[in-house]
Amino acid sequence: MRIDIISVVPELLESPLSHSIMKRARDKGLLEVHVHHLRQWAVNEYGQIDDYQYGGGAGMVMMPEPLANAIETLSKDRTYDEIIYVTPDGPRFDQPTANRLSLKGNLLIICGHYKGIDQRIREHFVTMEISIGDYVLSGGELAAAIIVDAVGRLLPGVLGDETSALTDSFQDNLLAPPVYTRPADFRGWKVPEILMCGDPIKVADWRHEQAIQRTKERRPDIFDQ
Ligand code: ADE
Repeated sequence: MRIDIISVVPELLESPLSHSIMKRARDKGLLEVHVHHLRQWAVNEYGQIDDYQYGGGAGMVMMPEPLANAIETLSKDRTYDEIIYVTPDGPRFDQPTANRLSLKGNLLIICGHYKGIDQRIREHFVTMEISIGDYVLSGGELAAAIIVDAVGRLLPGVLGDETSALTDSFQDNLLAPPVYTRPADFRGWKVPEILMCGDPIKVADWRHEQAIQRTKERRPDIFDQ
């Protein structure tokens, strides 16, 4: 999979996508991420990419011309399966959306800043909008990093144990059950006996039961679905 990202602060994307599982995915050639600085397509020599909003009001808006030129230039080299704008007023990101995106070949993500991007870009170029949650970030970069991480780890071969993404929270609409490691007794706090019984069916049943219990208690909204 290849993901192109258009940003005015590319530095914000460097670290989250250069370590741990994302690094492994990129090193193995399973995920390519290319970050493009929007100022390459600025409208003048001062690097201008934003302007005051029509109708007045505080906050600048990202101009349509640099964004359209960026999208059109990048689209010459490949066809994007989705052109995604990350914005707090988009539909909320979730595991099914990550699963769906992980099946695509080429994604383009646009990170907004200030008051956001000119509406005409959303109408004429963007094919999908995503919010990562009901709060407002200073820019779209961290949201883009979250999407790349959630999608990238699902690509076949990225996680060491092929089954581990399947047992994540949300994959079956349940939160993940509790997990334990050694020692079996830490300060008198003991690991549940059943996890050491050696019977994989009993362990699976216990985990499923715990997952149901947790989901009921913590996320009745997804449990009711
Ligand atoms: N940009 C600013 N806030 C955001 C959010 N919650 N989700 C996606 N992009 C954003």
